[in-house]
Amino acid sequence: MLDLIRNRRSARKFDGRPIPTELIDLLGESLLRSPTSKNNRPWEFIFVDDPTLLAHLAVCKPHGATFLKEAPLAVVIVADEKASDVWVEDCSIAAITLQYVAQSLDLGSCWIQVRKRFHDSGDSAEAVVRRTLEIPDHFRVASIVALGYRREERTGVPKEKLDYQKIKLNRYS
Ligand SMILES: Cc1cc2nc3c(=O)[nH]c(=O)nc-3n(C[C@H](O)[C@H](O)[C@H](O)COP(=O)(O)O)c2cc1C
Repeated sequence: MLDLIRNRRSARKFDGRPIPTELIDLLGESLLRSPTSKNNRPWEFIFVDDPTLLAHLAVCKPHGATFLKEAPLAVVIVADEKASDVWVEDCSIAAITLQYVAQSLDLGSCWIQVRKRFHDSGDSAEAVVRRTLEIPDHFRVASIVALGYRREERTGVPKEKLDYQKIKLNRYS
């Protein structure tokens, strides 16, 4: 686990290889094992491998999603907000779990923020994703995780560069 944490970096460049079905199954299993408040499991996960749909998702907001059109797979994380008052936290835990499991399987990944982001038209990025994937209106769209085999290696941040001033003991000052 510590090695995964030390070496994790976001991947936005993929080499075009598809992700084998066995690995996709493991990603799905890991998502369903993510912890949620009160075990409410308000989330659902849409696996997208259709290049046309990926190209549409890539423009759900003007910046920070374009690389989706070159990814072999995206996982769109949605939740029924009525099912939990902390659906954002539940979805975030699922997203980061997915990213670490992907890394353990030698896959690169990158979180794409959807909630609170906007399309060029002024529509919310959530509305664009909902329309694109025919997601019912009562679902919120938290994020999309792009996944694939990395086209370039990125090294983890060296320990000396970590901002240890952010760690406090007992009191703030
Ligand atoms: C909540 C959250 C939202 C993010 N949204 C985006 C995004 O929309 N597009 C993107 O390219 N990266 C996004 N990222 C990835 C961050 O930019 C990245 O984690 C950060 O720059 C640190 O780089 P590293 O992951 O390589 O360590 C997001 C990460 C988090 C945790």
